[in-house]
Formats: sequence, structure tokens, C-alpha cells
Amino acid sequence: MPLLKVCGLTKKFYGITAVNNVSFAVNTGEIVGLIGPNGSGKTTLFNCITRMLIADQGRVLFNGEDISNFKPAQIAQKGLARSFHFIRVFIDLTVRENILVAAQHHQQDNDLEQIFRTKNSRLLDQEILIKADKIINFIGLQGLTNEKAGNLSYGQRKLLSFSMAIIFHPKLVLLDEPAAAVNPTMIKRIGEYIRTLNQQGITFIIVEHNMEFIMGLADRIIALDQGSIIADGLPRDVQHDYRVQEAYFGV
Ligand SMILES: Nc1ncnc2c1ncn2[C@@H]1O[C@H](COP(=O)(O)OP(=O)(O)O)[C@@H](O)[C@H]1O
Ligand SMILES: [Mg+2]
Repeated sequence: MPLLKVCGLTKKFYGITAVNNVSFAVNTGEIVGLIGPNGSGKTTLFNCITRMLIADQGRVLFNGEDISNFKPAQIAQKGLARSFHFIRVFIDLTVRENILVAAQHHQQDNDLEQIFRTKNSRLLDQEILIKADKIINFIGLQGLTNEKAGNLSYGQRKLLSFSMAIIFHPKLVLLDEPAAAVNPTMIKRIGEYIRTLNQQGITFIIVEHNMEFIMGLADRIIALDQGSIIADGLPRDVQHDYRVQEAYFGV
């Protein structure tokens, strides 16, 4: 059974079909790259999968369960996380506080009852603090735990927002342009974190324009053009696919 199954997803904005009858499946353990020219529907597809947007047609199955009508928070709770191509961190909060906010947000969206049922909520807080510090160590920001996010470099902020997506060890993470506008050293680091987390069992779908980065990282590439899938296969095959070449370079 695939971890994620997208069946005939379609999303229209007024006259534009941003996502056009898209179907694909992703298996546990895969790193799938999602490529396509600007405006080809990558972000909209992510938004429809996580129900930040409501699709006009189609279904999404996660772990065999139909999540098409779930709220974004319920989807996150099931273990499907995402990060955004724009950075969502609170600049006036410290690195640790940002991660705690992400954790709290996740928990509030969780079954509230379950939280109240927890006899010792202090114990829970303690657990979250430990988790937060673990993740800060993992992404190498331990020297900046109490630094305000506003004082971090762009790349460090990107790492922070990445860590906010993985705080609860999700099963599947959707990353929107993790390597965009960060320096080569940071790109390398982000790639290594993704690989490590993948080895720990996390599956990824990654939208990325940096071809070297995504072709080196992904097991499989799905290419979109004008809302439709035009190629789905091994990185080197997709890269050389004439439809992909045409979509990117018009050749
Ligand atoms: N909220 C929106 N309202 C209207 N049109 C939108 C909206 N979001 C995206 N679009 C349009 O949908 C298409 C796909 O956009 P998007 O998913 O952002 O592409 P990508 O992420 O591949 O660059 C584009 O034509 C874009 O202009
Ligand atoms: Mg986009």
C-alpha cells in the first residue's frame, strides 16, 4: 500500500486549471522530487494535498485512509507535514520558542481531549522541551537556541522552519523549495538532513528548482507542466525527457 495516493486531483482558479487531474502514488521511504516551471501547479498541488486549498475534484489517501475531507490540522496530526517556500518563523521569538510554538500548534490541533487526559501535563511539557532541544541540535543551531529568529541568517531561518515541520517525526514531509536562495554550504547541509531523516524512515516530496540538488537527492522525479504530470520516473530519465526539456526550455 502506498503511503500517499493522489487520485485525479484538480484545482481551478477562475479560468486557470492550476492542477489538472493529477494522479500519483508515493511509497514509504521514497524521496520524490516535484519539478516544473513557475506556475506549473506545484505549490497548489501541495496545498490541495494538505487541504490548505480545497480541490475541485479528486481524492487523497494517506496510509490507506481517505483524507480528502480532513482539516489541515487533522492531516498534520496523521503525520503529513509541510514547510513553505516562504519562511514562517516568528522573528521576535527565540529559536527554541519558535519550535515550541510549532509543537504547541501541532498539539492544539491534536485531539485536545487526549492532551487533557494526560495526567501529568508537566511531563508532557518536559518531553516537548527535550524534543525541541534535540531538534535544535540535529539542525546544528544549538549555539543559537536563545537567539531571536530575527537575528538569524536567511539560511538559518530556513533550517528553523524546516525543523518546525519535523518536530513530531511525521511520516511524510512536503518541502516547498528548501534550497531556494540559500548558499551552497547550507544547501549541502539541508540535503544531508533530508537524507538522515529519510534513513530514519521519513518520506519526502520536495519541490525544488535547483536541479543539481534535487536530481542528486531524489529517488524519483515527477514533472508538472500547466497543472498536468508530464513525466514520472528516475531522475536521469525525467531530466532527459523531451516533454520536460520542452516545458523548461521550449526546445
Ligand atoms: N490563490 C490563487 N488564486 C488565483 N490563481 C492562483 C492562486 N494560486 C496559484 N494560482 C495560479 O495557479 C497556477 C499554479 O500556481 P502555483 O501552484 O503557485 O505554481 P508553482 O508552485 O508551480 O509555481 C498559476 O497560474 C498561478 O498563477
Ligand atoms: Mg510554488
